[in-house]
Amino acid sequence: MRHILRRSRKRVNRRLVRPIPLFYNVAVTAVALPVFGPVESLSAPNPLASETGPRDIRAVRTLRISVTDRCNFRCVYCMPEEKIDWLPRETLLSYEEIAAVVRAAVRHGIGGFKLTGGEPLVRHDLPALVALLRGVPGVRELSMTTNGALLDEYAAPLKAAGLDRLTVSLDTMDPDRFRAITRGADIRRVWAGIRAAVAAGFRHPKINCVAMRGINDDEYAAFARLTIDHDATVRFIEYMPLGRTALGGEYEQRFIAETDIRARIEAALGPLTPADHDAGHGPACVFRLADPRGDGHPGRGRIGFISAMSKPFCSTCNRLRLTAEGQLRSCLFDGGEVELRPILRGEPLRPATHDALGDSNSIADALHAAFIRCVAFKPEVHGYYGNRQMSQIGG
Ligand code: 5AD
Ligand code: SF4
Repeated sequence: MRHILRRSRKRVNRRLVRPIPLFYNVAVTAVALPVFGPVESLSAPNPLASETGPRDIRAVRTLRISVTDRCNFRCVYCMPEEKIDWLPRETLLSYEEIAAVVRAAVRHGIGGFKLTGGEPLVRHDLPALVALLRGVPGVRELSMTTNGALLDEYAAPLKAAGLDRLTVSLDTMDPDRFRAITRGADIRRVWAGIRAAVAAGFRHPKINCVAMRGINDDEYAAFARLTIDHDATVRFIEYMPLGRTALGGEYEQRFIAETDIRARIEAALGPLTPADHDAGHGPACVFRLADPRGDGHPGRGRIGFISAMSKPFCSTCNRLRLTAEGQLRSCLFDGGEVELRPILRGEPLRPATHDALGDSNSIADALHAAFIRCVAFKPEVHGYYGNRQMSQIGG
């Protein structure tokens, strides 16, 4: 493993500093994407954050749950290459503990739950967690973000356990570039995973592409092209400076804003037109290709932009995050967090948390109160740097 990483480091450095030529119809057409159905909406009872402000627990729609900080990739923008301090296993919330937090969330009317990591599928028997959460009344939508490498093994069990939707992270469609970005992973595993997901019955998948100048900025049109005939959503995520990552030192050089990404797509495929978007659903602004074939019909799928850097969406933020070690976190970047593990395990609480939880009679009541305390920590607008990398927080 070590020598593979060392070899790939050389490749990363060499390949990442120069733009790489256009490509790719081969890789694009190699994927058998299916005919996807319409995107179902989450019929949430909660008001919108734009009505209540983001610091009102009633505005929260989604809890993102990191089940592990570990990952089988080492993406250059997410993880350092070596010397990673993994969380000790005993500090991770058990599946039962996660389910207790989910029950507390449901009491607040939160209905959407997204499993993330690290890479969620490296945690032992993830379908068992999916089945457990599926059985919690009030859980409306259960989804997962994965790097796809283990999906060919897990797609069918996840579907059988009751997972509704999948998002696969894919920042390039070029095999060599993929190996460089992930520091050694094989893109064929991801394509196999996507095919397995489709075969297992997952419809309208999302693909997340982190946009990085000089690394994948010649591929945005190729990604967008996937949405011409398939009812999938491709989402371009602005690169965020989170934690101590390998690309951190050259963040400004690598950042590319939504307007530039969009210009590249429109130059190749014509204008984008706004797509229907249920406002409660998330931070992405979504579009379709207006007329990519020149026959007056829009593309079938959707193109989203998650632009936390150029257009912070904090004022309408409708999500909270649970870290693998049990912190309920108000914001991806910084903001406050509330430690839930001591509540769950009956351990001593920090004085401030203790005071805020008042006279909770039970673990369930204390968790309920912790959600209200946490959402009040949401910042007006997030800071420039996030204090922890995505793999530790859950994207
Ligand atoms: N900036 C933007 N996106 C990131 N992701 C991980 N780290 C970063 C970062 N620093 C992405 C992952 C995944 C999603 C949850 O967040 O690729 O698709
Ligand atoms: Fe793993 Fe996702 Fe981070 Fe890549 S971005 S190292 S796949 S957690």
